[in-house]
Amino acid sequence: MAYLKGSDKSKYVASMFGRISSRYDFLNTLMTAGRHHAWRKIAVDMLLDGFYEGIALDVATGTGDFAIELARSDSVGVVGLDFSSGMISVGQNKILAKGIGHRVSNLVGDAHMLPFADETFACATVGFGVRNFIDLPTAIREIARVLQPGGRIAILEIVRIEKGIFRYLFKPYFKYVTPWIGAVFAGEKEAYTYLPQSVELFLSAREMLELMLEIGMEDVSIKKFALGSVAIVSGRKSRDP
Ligand SMILES: C[S@@+](CC[C@H](N)C(=O)[O-])C[C@H]1O[C@@H](n2cnc3c(N)ncnc32)[C@H](O)[C@@H]1O
Repeated sequence: MAYLKGSDKSKYVASMFGRISSRYDFLNTLMTAGRHHAWRKIAVDMLLDGFYEGIALDVATGTGDFAIELARSDSVGVVGLDFSSGMISVGQNKILAKGIGHRVSNLVGDAHMLPFADETFACATVGFGVRNFIDLPTAIREIARVLQPGGRIAILEIVRIEKGIFRYLFKPYFKYVTPWIGAVFAGEKEAYTYLPQSVELFLSAREMLELMLEIGMEDVSIKKFALGSVAIVSGRKSRDP
């Protein structure tokens, strides 16, 4: 899949997530030893710090864990967007089961062409989504466009480790162990072979932060977890026009 580009990659990714949607949450919890909930909480704490009310956008919302975490604050309405209706429908069931269906709306759409007016949202999240985008600068610009001035974005992602011993340890883990876990627990070796390939081709946390600065985001920061293999990269849209 590494050579797929543009709409071919989008179709491949949307169909792959559709196939694994019912096993996604279980595999996510297994592969992160359950830590992904704590990372989402940290990201949402960063966003809701000093935040009073408004609508939050969760791009590539998938099975909705970030949207659910955002909705823990009563003053926040949440919109989740994803191009896999299969992932959204798993998320929608979780949202309804938690009784927060009136505060979280989901829609099918592409992160590169967000169907929202400028300056609609007070803050935004993307969880394990940006690695899959076909044109990351365009998608981040789109998110910045729909954010209100001063609105913050938090991106949680598996990142390429640039240096140190863990760089060499994670490569074989992702290359050999991850596809095996995917095959055994999801019956989907291909999807979990895509994961290490996508990480290898992706940016480091530092490179993501530089991209945010290029796009004009301010007050940017990085928090690393899981020996540097996972990061929250965050930034704020300038208040100056
Ligand atoms: C690894 S899952 C992450 C789901 C969820 N955000 C989470 O934190 O667990 C990646 C999600 O990104 C979605 N996705 C990938 N590219 C997208 C795009 N261009 N537009 C919208 N959704 C996209 C996929 O359909 C999938 O649901």
